[in-house]
Amino acid sequence: MNNKTLAILKPDCVKKNLIGKVITLIQEAGFKVSAIKMIKLTPETAKGFYEVHTGKFFFNDLIAYMTSGPCVPIALEKENAVEDFRKLIGATDPAKAAEGTIRKLYADNMQENIVHGSDSDENALKEIAHFFSRKELLEINGL
Ligand code: CMP
Repeated sequence: MNNKTLAILKPDCVKKNLIGKVITLIQEAGFKVSAIKMIKLTPETAKGFYEVHTGKFFFNDLIAYMTSGPCVPIALEKENAVEDFRKLIGATDPAKAAEGTIRKLYADNMQENIVHGSDSDENALKEIAHFFSRKELLEINGL
């Protein structure tokens, strides 16, 4: 277990002015923000990030949506980070998300679902590296 996960506050979260509310829920659940930035993904970076979904029926829509506006990647730390974060955000489909989860509270549909969370420890490290360089992480955390 590496105690790290990557969140992305997606374009619908930014457009709906929910950045503060969602980060508050994340911090109140015990996660430490170790790095954060706002960026606009290019089609190339979005395709690279979601490579595992290449060819799926929703892939093109996913890339169009993720490049439609700025998003906020956040490197998070907590014991059991990946699993606890997935519990906090709820199911991919907000209609199936548990009460009190971030997607249940704020997401509109399967695509515009407010937030991404890594699905394994291995992917968490890869996904953090996708948005934050080693140098940047060392500089931010003063090590
Ligand atoms: P995320 O956790 O970011 O990982 C992949 C994303 O693809 C997912 O959230 C959804 O936004 C999107 N996605 C997954 N499954 C579907 C689907 N069946 N229809 C539309 N979008 C999907």
